[in-house]
Amino acid sequence: MRFTKKDILDIESLSVDEINLILDTAYKMKEISIRPIKKVPTLRGKTVVLFFYEPSTRTRISFDIAAKRLSADSLSIATSTSSIVKGETLADTAKTLEAMNPDIIVLRHSSAGTPHLLARLVKSSIINAGDGMHAHPTQALLDLMTVREKKGKISGLRIAIIGDISHSRVARSNITGFTKMGAEVVIAGPPTMIPKGIESLGASVSYNVDEAICDADVIMMLRIQKERQKSFLFPTEREYSKVYGLTKKRVENARSDVLIMHPGPVNRGVEIAYEVVDGPYSIILDQVTNGVAVRMALLYLVSGGARNAGAD
Ligand code: CP
Repeated sequence: MRFTKKDILDIESLSVDEINLILDTAYKMKEISIRPIKKVPTLRGKTVVLFFYEPSTRTRISFDIAAKRLSADSLSIATSTSSIVKGETLADTAKTLEAMNPDIIVLRHSSAGTPHLLARLVKSSIINAGDGMHAHPTQALLDLMTVREKKGKISGLRIAIIGDISHSRVARSNITGFTKMGAEVVIAGPPTMIPKGIESLGASVSYNVDEAICDADVIMMLRIQKERQKSFLFPTEREYSKVYGLTKKRVENARSDVLIMHPGPVNRGVEIAYEVVDGPYSIILDQVTNGVAVRMALLYLVSGGARNAGAD
């Protein structure tokens, strides 16, 4: 199969075959990261711009490492040190970048739809590294990769996504990704954090965490996004932890082969207990490791790697 997408904007616009190709490519890329010399010349001469309007540790650094492992030149633009602080619009900044002919722009922005706008404005490939509360496709792809790697399949699994669904782009992309790949997704959290109509993405809704995680193959906990909440959506963190958090006791009542995931950054002791983050069922750091592999695969595929190599 040939990958013909110029941009990676959301999971909705990827077919099942395209997702499988990305995951298969990511497994091959992962092998490069365990070699003594973790570098191949695949993207030599390509330029990758990391354009982050919002803070990021995992996504920005893993894209940077991914670009370097493929021998691309990567550079980061922080809003605080760019002309954005002088009032330059996103469109003008994008056209200015375009004039310098980068091959790929990786964009994180607080406004939903910004990567889609940029993709229409510039010839460079755009990869969405998270846009507002809308989508985080590369996170969903690395989560799919991690589950497929650990369970050997995605189809037929029960995935429980728990927490602040309303403010979570990770939740939206993962609901779409896991249901598209044949899993059953149940979401749970406080009623104030579950948006109306979320079932239209294919998930069922529960307001009871114990019910949602019962028989779940995978429990994905989400961060309480205090920075996006305009009013208090729960009484106290202690109360939230008790009613909706993943405690050691809840894990003891889950399946014996359950996998526990979190996209990070983690609020330890709030949505997930300290000992659960570091416990035997946690695959949180495997998610981070696979983030590099998935982003290597995406940089390679949007660069026309599969076309140039004649991969099938
Ligand atoms: N999961 C995630 O997007 O983390 P960062 O905000 O650190 O990139």
